Amino acid sequence: MEQATRERRMPAVKYIQFDGAEQTVDAPVGTSVMQAALTNGVPGILAECGGAASCATCHVYVDEAWVERCGPPGDDENDMLECTASERRPNSRLSCQIELSDELDGLIIRTPETQS
Ligand code: FES
Repeated sequence: MEQATRERRMPAVKYIQFDGAEQTVDAPVGTSVMQAALTNGVPGILAECGGAASCATCHVYVDEAWVERCGPPGDDENDMLECTASERRPNSRLSCQIELSDELDGLIIRTPETQS
């Protein structure tokens, strides 16, 4: 029973591209916002370092309504956010550092104009 409950936990994430195209995907709890995008063919995130917070090509803008729930970037992430190809904004995050949880079901993410 508990196992079945766990398997159902698939928070939805809506990705909005720079050109306005939208795609919503469901991904298991614990998956990063970056991995959920790559697994589902969402464009706009390169993730060259594979999620190690050392490339900044998974830069995204978290929708204002979700910034608080996502929390602030960690120290390493904060440093790496200085290296983004597109403008860094107050709601900038590295998508590999945002882990999906039940609380983030419905999360809205915007991808920047460019990652390189
Ligand atoms: S995938 Fe490289 S910093 Fe996120």
